[in-house]
Amino acid sequence: MYQSVFTNRREFIKKMAVLSAMTAAAGMFPGIIFAEEQEKGIPDGANLDWKKAPCRFCGVGCGVLIGTENGKAIAVKGDPKSPVNKGLCCVKGYHSIMAMYGKDRLKKPLVKKNGRYVETSMKEALDLVASKMQETIKEHGKDAVSIYGSGQWTIPDGYVASKLFKGCIGTNNVEANARLCMATAVTGFLSSFGLDEPMGCYEDIDYADTFVLWGNNMAEMHPVLFSRLLDQRLKRGVKIIDFATRTTRTSMAADKTIIFNPQTDLAVANAICYEIINNGWMNTAFVEEHCNFSKGLTNMGYGLEDHYKFTDRPEAISFEEYKAFLEDYTPEKVSGLSGVSVKDIKYLAAHFGDPNKKVMSLWCMGMNQHSRGTWINNLVYNIHLLTGKISSPGNSPFSLTGQPSACGTVREVGTLTHKLPHGVVANKEHREFAAKIWDVPVENIDPKPTYHTVEMFRALDRGDIRFMWIQVTNPMVTMPKLKRYRDGAKKEGRFIVVSDVYPTPTTDIADVILPSAMWVEREGLYGNSERRTQYFEQMLEPPGEALSDTVQLIEVAKRMGFEKQFYYKDETHIEEIYSEYRRHHEGKKHNMAPLEVLKNQPGAMWPYVDGKETKWRFNAKYDPACTNGKDFHFYGKKDGRAVIWQRPYEPAAEEPDADYPFWLGTGRVVEHWHTGSMTRRIPVLHQAMPHAYVELHPEDAERMQIRTGDMVKLTTRRGEISLPASVNQRGVPAPRQVFVPFFDEQMLINDITLDSFCPISKEPDYKKCAVKVEKA
Ligand code: MOS
Repeated sequence: MYQSVFTNRREFIKKMAVLSAMTAAAGMFPGIIFAEEQEKGIPDGANLDWKKAPCRFCGVGCGVLIGTENGKAIAVKGDPKSPVNKGLCCVKGYHSIMAMYGKDRLKKPLVKKNGRYVETSMKEALDLVASKMQETIKEHGKDAVSIYGSGQWTIPDGYVASKLFKGCIGTNNVEANARLCMATAVTGFLSSFGLDEPMGCYEDIDYADTFVLWGNNMAEMHPVLFSRLLDQRLKRGVKIIDFATRTTRTSMAADKTIIFNPQTDLAVANAICYEIINNGWMNTAFVEEHCNFSKGLTNMGYGLEDHYKFTDRPEAISFEEYKAFLEDYTPEKVSGLSGVSVKDIKYLAAHFGDPNKKVMSLWCMGMNQHSRGTWINNLVYNIHLLTGKISSPGNSPFSLTGQPSACGTVREVGTLTHKLPHGVVANKEHREFAAKIWDVPVENIDPKPTYHTVEMFRALDRGDIRFMWIQVTNPMVTMPKLKRYRDGAKKEGRFIVVSDVYPTPTTDIADVILPSAMWVEREGLYGNSERRTQYFEQMLEPPGEALSDTVQLIEVAKRMGFEKQFYYKDETHIEEIYSEYRRHHEGKKHNMAPLEVLKNQPGAMWPYVDGKETKWRFNAKYDPACTNGKDFHFYGKKDGRAVIWQRPYEPAAEEPDADYPFWLGTGRVVEHWHTGSMTRRIPVLHQAMPHAYVELHPEDAERMQIRTGDMVKLTTRRGEISLPASVNQRGVPAPRQVFVPFFDEQMLINDITLDSFCPISKEPDYKKCAVKVEKA
């Protein structure tokens, strides 16, 4: 029925055959135990060996207990001891172990020879990877090799990748897919507070009176955390306000939904600040004691050209200047632009302004994938800073993550081009500190960042990068304006290594495919949204020759002559690597809990100081790193003050016009985790959500005579794609907007999205481009 959209029909049929075979074999015990195991007479789990792990999927970081028997994981349940989920899981968590048992698990390395994949031994494959990398460095220089990882990398994976590339090889060509997801959260934190990651924690949910969800469909993306909000509403009657561009399952559960026009969250946030100041709701004592005012450059562009560079130039301003700037953002002025009524803007502002209400803001990719993403992060912090509703129980601007270790591995280990585990490559002291721990000459670490993710794939296209090693991620589904980057990666003279657990559109472009050990088939650590580091032990043997990404990297490092730096004594290396890594974060501001602690409890939040985790940073009552003698200390900034930023509204990179009259936004669904490479191999989840679709507003659908299931053609300036329509089903976009989930590799919506990004964070805006919508 949807065959017209598949670029490679033969491959599609092959893949669908695999999926339907899995579906037929599904016959699963409803709940947690595999049917075949149940038939063997173990339905009660009495003989199972239960061990704890953080869930494999999203950034919430639920604790799960995995039951194994005879070398197989056959049961899973929520860990009642985990303070994150208190025994609960979502539909993905309950089926997580099945993701390891898809029929087409990669078990042997595959090397492309004359256009065909040939099985080889792991030893030979690693020899080839190492020699190709050395050859490329010799011919094209060190900055011609790169590694692209992810927020699903365990902490040790990302750490050894950074050490090999930045420390030993000496290139800053280290990036991770969190650039596509959380980079704006990072630049938001850094510009407002000087330090990354939330000041609060999930426990804020137990104290907040009002929850404002900024473009955050928590009911589908963070279901277990959302259930904690619903639980508080039952117990205490808290308010949940859904501020969004599309009606979702979250809207159905919220007390109030306020729909705004895409990109105008910038204006509404400023209007809230206007109201706070002009109604006398500002916490003057807090602002005078703990805040500065600043402005930066405007009209930054959208990063659409190659080699685009931007550096913000912050400038101090007075409160009076800031107040005058807000005159452009009265509720009356903002209402027309945003589509939000004056009454609703005032309603939102009043919740923040009420001194007797504790407010928690929550957001994720809806706000971060934004061509002015750093600005909107700053603006939400402004609201919390102006009212002093921050860093205390229940008062919490809280940026959520989507991957199990986006915080732990990408942000804390620093697997981004400009970063080191502690600090940045541009800082001499930070380089010296890292070089000492890594046991490399400090000159090895290049002070200049090279390419962020979009530019890295542009460099691969141009030929400035010749070798790319991709681990635990699927960029041939997730890159915006995908066609350019897929064509670029497939050019002559490029060598691509992909480490993964299943075939994906990314392994399709690989010269070498390395089978990886997945999740609890190896030992590792993840760090979730609330600064919680969680450990998991190896519970299962990986299939075939599959090897952990950590060991793959170490083996290649040794082959390249870095035996000294990668000499680890213990068998899996994890214990030694983690203690080495902890040295980068020593001190009261970021100390990580020792492994012995993490082995015995469901994680610990950093800073972990004197045997205690820190729940609220920057608050002297809770955070031992506060030293200024005041109630709060924003010690990420030299003068201990957080910054309230003057950030204007600016339009999106591409807005609807006469030729392309709709907005196109992309996102996720509860059943599938990101690109679906794992969850589509779980029969129940695949059956529940078998393919992508395009959501339309019912009025638009009626005008175009489109019904659910009809094929709809979407055309942007990048190309076209056809998908079945979805009207009044899962979500309902506003009029003149369409929404497409990105999990389906057979309907690659990113072929037609735009590769504009926030010039400060370099994170692409997947939520906004202009599209023409027609009945196919
Ligand atoms: Mo983000 S999907 O948590 O890197």
